[in-house]
Amino acid sequence: KDDDAAAMLEAHELLKKFYHHLLVNTKEGQDALDYLLKRGFTKESIEQFEIGYSLNSWNFAVKFLANRGFSLPLMEEAGLLVKKNDGSDFLDRFRNRIMFPILDHHGNTIAFSGRVMTDEQPKYLNSPETKLFNKSKVLYNFSKARLHIRKHHQAVLLEGFADVISASLAGVQHSVAAMGTALTGEQAKVLKRNSAEVILCYDSDKAGMDAVLRSAKTLSQAGAEVKVAMIPDGLDPDDYIQRFGAEKFQHDVIGASVSVMTFKMHYFKKGRNLQNEADRLEYIEQILKEIAALKNSLEQEIYVKQLAREYALGLDVLKERLSELSRTME
Ligand code: CTP
Ligand code: MN
Ligand code: MN
Ligand code: MN
Ligand code: MN
Repeated sequence: KDDDAAAMLEAHELLKKFYHHLLVNTKEGQDALDYLLKRGFTKESIEQFEIGYSLNSWNFAVKFLANRGFSLPLMEEAGLLVKKNDGSDFLDRFRNRIMFPILDHHGNTIAFSGRVMTDEQPKYLNSPETKLFNKSKVLYNFSKARLHIRKHHQAVLLEGFADVISASLAGVQHSVAAMGTALTGEQAKVLKRNSAEVILCYDSDKAGMDAVLRSAKTLSQAGAEVKVAMIPDGLDPDDYIQRFGAEKFQHDVIGASVSVMTFKMHYFKKGRNLQNEADRLEYIEQILKEIAALKNSLEQEIYVKQLAREYALGLDVLKERLSELSRTME
């Protein structure tokens, strides 16, 4: 019912404000605030992204919501509460976590993600799928980033909350995230509708780089131009900005983004010793297969030439192998 949805939205809005108040104004929130400031979050980023703190309590939200007349079964449906194991009562879903509100593309708060301050698991606890929150459709920060995306004809897609927040504060305000899950076709279409080009800037670990390959495919299928912004080994965009600053992030990372093929040439070299003949041959074959899969023959020409130059190979030989590979792919 529409009334239910309205109540769920109102509950999210009220709790968001209260979690934020707990973080910035109370003794109970002091450790959480210290944690954030120590990590490089600022007063400004905490305000702008309405970050909060959920108390270390089993029933703070239960009481908060009951006092304001919300139906507790409905609040469970909204993902804010969970049912006790024996089914007798409701408990808070989010306890003792840093709270990141998740907004829909119009700016309504529809879910939360809560981060632990220790190395417990899960690191982030998210609201479940609800009537309000369809994970495969929402991009974190899209409501704020939209106008910037349209102005720049470009969107920057990052992995997580902290990455988007740091990037935005570093002046890259056209930043969004798919929040851990693989980018869906629906999210890709939203980006494509609002920008010609999407820059993927994921964590520089194996999971992040494998995800670049998958997301690049999903985005191309949606018709977007894709580029990849590479971060030095082992860091994520937030780490990078904390360590090297906004200027370097803008110029040396986002400004230095490369084509997906150039990213692949870089990534497939990892873990291979290209001084070794067998490794080198395998690598060249792998790249040739990628080139063979390109639709644009001009692009093919450019990358084949690049390979020929880089490995001092005859262009004719490479092209011959390329057409063999193209035939077997048909
Ligand atoms: N994520 C999630 N649930 C988890 C772990 C991750 O939903 N248990 C999502 C979050 O949106 C997170 C993103 O995946 O921001 C990227 O994960 P990861 O790189 O592990 O986290 P960071 O964003 O780097 O988090 P932090 O800097 O706070 O450690
Ligand atoms: Mn801008
Ligand atoms: Mn990651
Ligand atoms: Mn990360
Ligand atoms: Mn991080």
